[in-house]
Amino acid sequence: MKTILLIHGPNLNLLGKRNATHYGSLTLKKLEEIVKAEAKVLGYRILSFQSNHEGELIDVIQKNSEKAEGILINPGALTHYSYALHDAIIDAQIPTVEVHLSDINKRESWRKISVTAAACIGQKFGKKEKSYLEALALLHKTLTTKKS
Ligand code: DQA
Repeated sequence: MKTILLIHGPNLNLLGKRNATHYGSLTLKKLEEIVKAEAKVLGYRILSFQSNHEGELIDVIQKNSEKAEGILINPGALTHYSYALHDAIIDAQIPTVEVHLSDINKRESWRKISVTAAACIGQKFGKKEKSYLEALALLHKTLTTKKS
């Protein structure tokens, strides 16, 4: 089975306790179950990882990108300022989709800026857990189009 990396950045371990208006009420575990179930239907196994530390996220991308077909990443607040994460995504050389539970364009002005999006093939946001399913569908479409 092909592998997709599912990466969650800072504070996403607290899903279920964070502001439900922005992030919904699912825990990270439940969210991952939903993504994994859909990924299985599409023929992928999900390798998931969450960290509150930028360097650990970069390490996991570096260590696993050669064995993965693509990446789904919610970089959390790192989205808005981590050029190191941007570069790690570029260097991974596999299609990556950025995903956000909330609508980052309708919140504080600093959230409208994503420095990681430029390294990604697309960005899905604003639909809570459905954003993840949209991101997975986009990644799948890209992977299947690329190979046909
Ligand atoms: C988030 C949006 C970010 O601005 C925020 O810092 C997060 C979560 C989202 O999924 O909506 O932690 O990435």
